[in-house]
Amino acid sequence: MSTSVDFNMYTLLALFLFCVAVSLNSAAEFSFASYYGDHMVLQKAPERAVLWGYGANGSKVIVSLEGEQGSRAEQAVYVQNGVWRATLDPVKAGGPYNVTAVQQGAGKAQVTLTDVLFGDVWLCGGQSNMAYTLSQVINASAEAALASKYPQVRIFMAALETSREPLMDLPRVEVPWSVPTAELLAGPAFTHFSAVCWLFGRYLYKTLGYPVGLVSSCWGGTPVEAWSSTRALQKCGLEKQEKLDISFVKLPGTLPVPPESLSRLMNAWKNSVLWNAMIHPLLNMTIKGAIWYQGESNTGYHLYKYSCSFPTMIDDWREAFHTGSGGQTALDFPFGFVQISTSAKSSKSYAFPILRWQQSARYGYAPNPRMKNTFMAVALDLPDGRSPWGSIHPRDKQDVAYRLTLGARAVAYGEKGVAFQGPFPAKVLLDGDSLNVTYTQAVSVTNSSSVFEVCCTQEKKPCNSSSTWLPAPTVQWGRSYVQLSVSGCKDVVSGLRYAWRDWPCDFKACPVYSADRELPAPPFTGNRWMRPDGQDDW
Ligand SMILES: *[C@@H]1O[C@H](CO)[C@@H](O)[C@H](O)[C@H]1NC(C)=O
Ligand SMILES: *[C@@H]1O[C@H](CO)[C@@H](O)[C@H](O)[C@H]1NC(C)=O
Ligand SMILES: *[C@@H]1O[C@H](CO)[C@@H](O)[C@H](O)[C@H]1NC(C)=O
Ligand SMILES: *[C@@H]1O[C@H](CO)[C@@H](O)[C@H](O)[C@H]1NC(C)=O
Ligand SMILES: *[C@@H]1O[C@H](CO)[C@@H](O)[C@H](O)[C@H]1NC(C)=O
Ligand SMILES: *[C@@H]1O[C@H](CO)[C@@H](O)[C@H](O)[C@H]1NC(C)=O
Repeated sequence: MSTSVDFNMYTLLALFLFCVAVSLNSAAEFSFASYYGDHMVLQKAPERAVLWGYGANGSKVIVSLEGEQGSRAEQAVYVQNGVWRATLDPVKAGGPYNVTAVQQGAGKAQVTLTDVLFGDVWLCGGQSNMAYTLSQVINASAEAALASKYPQVRIFMAALETSREPLMDLPRVEVPWSVPTAELLAGPAFTHFSAVCWLFGRYLYKTLGYPVGLVSSCWGGTPVEAWSSTRALQKCGLEKQEKLDISFVKLPGTLPVPPESLSRLMNAWKNSVLWNAMIHPLLNMTIKGAIWYQGESNTGYHLYKYSCSFPTMIDDWREAFHTGSGGQTALDFPFGFVQISTSAKSSKSYAFPILRWQQSARYGYAPNPRMKNTFMAVALDLPDGRSPWGSIHPRDKQDVAYRLTLGARAVAYGEKGVAFQGPFPAKVLLDGDSLNVTYTQAVSVTNSSSVFEVCCTQEKKPCNSSSTWLPAPTVQWGRSYVQLSVSGCKDVVSGLRYAWRDWPCDFKACPVYSADRELPAPPFTGNRWMRPDGQDDW
């Protein structure tokens, strides 16, 4: 090991696994770990890229970098417990480079990675809407044909695997590091490269102008618990494995199911199994940030715990990637997520709105005090009743990815003047028979009879989803406010909510958008008498 690592619980765990891996791999050839390959993107400066691989115990390994201007960055490290690891000096964006590792001494051997670029590496995680491939999106063939125009956006995909114990390396790779082609991107439904991940990288590349590496590690139909470490689950009281039964897996509108067999999918529902096999192995790679599209499976599984499980998973990933990379990956790396879209137009269930709310730790927007350095792409206005993959899988992934990119530009790259959040209420005033909702920004409003609703109670008391909610039609609106009629409420107006339905509006036709109509207002629920943060509202 070239870098000293803090001796925390994590390191001890990693060392333990190390030994397990070595015993399995005692005749390991000299090589890089599974997710280093030709055409890859390594994290650029100011971070330092971490490289590791297997070798003969005690051997010296020299790692060097050859670019068009000659060779540089020779580094000598030693193989310990069958593994060597080098942390490169910072390299500015660009390339191509060849990265060569030479094992000296008796077991003399050499491995070279060619056509390596330095840029920003983003990890893409989640369930089927992240696994959803480019061949399934609107305008699929036109999108695939653009692939070859982006040779500096490189892709890698981990294969679907589960493990009871955290693994040091990926058991299998689905798509090795590749220069994008139409064929690679337009692979079969749900099994090849993620459309949201690819489009995010492509849009990001347009603004960054330097290489982007995309690492996709996701699995359709899976809950957040499978992607969380035991440590993270413990913090939310979820460490005890629930008896899984098939009804958990059945999601409204999920037809046809992704191609995994049901038993394989059930296995992927177990606590930490995907964290162990598909995330933990990646911890040593230096990354810039992560995006995530998941939550549908949790609308029927630990729904009310999601405001704990999801933010806690983010914190835990951050700490683990930071430790695994020897401090190179930022401890607060940017984390973007998609607020789940819609599943069934006729659904009367509140599971989707409740899950959306939990995704933001019950703030309704991101970043927020619980979820720092995060960004959220709202997607509830992109329903798709005609999707051949079931309405839970809307085909418009371009807008989803675009909204994520806006968040990344503003939050991860600090680009000034990039709006990425839709309008959110700043103030709600009750004045006789009307409510005046003032937004944080200028709004574009269309008439709505029932997307806003008020909770009507006989006495002053907080409301919840099962209280009586009545439509509050829009009466008029101004630059940054909407006036609602509450004349339907004969008792006390005790709460207000917006778009609190599985499928609140038609495609891009919700009542409230940013003034330029780019960003939909996120859904919210508010109590007049008690806000989630415990404060009195309006
Ligand atoms: C990398 O190695 C390949 C194959 O040996 C060679 O053709 C190429 O010129 C090298 N590239 C750099 C940047 O050194
Ligand atoms: C490598 O060396 C360590 C001690 O440094 C030893 O415990 C381990 O068994 C060795 N592994 C192999 C594969 O020789
Ligand atoms: C699909 O293509 C049409 C025609 O070029 C275009 O108007 C539309 O915006 C595209 N849709 C998406 C989601 O990119
Ligand atoms: C990461 O690096 C550390 C330190 O070299 C090592 O103990 C660990 O096994 C590596 N792999 C993972 C997946 O943590
Ligand atoms: C609503 O409040 C805003 C200020 O927050 C104010 O400018 C506007 O006139 C009010 N609208 C009505 C109808 O009272
Ligand atoms: C909104 O719609 C209602 C009913 O269709 C209509 O009475 C009202 O005038 C409309 N309001 C605005 C501001 O367009």
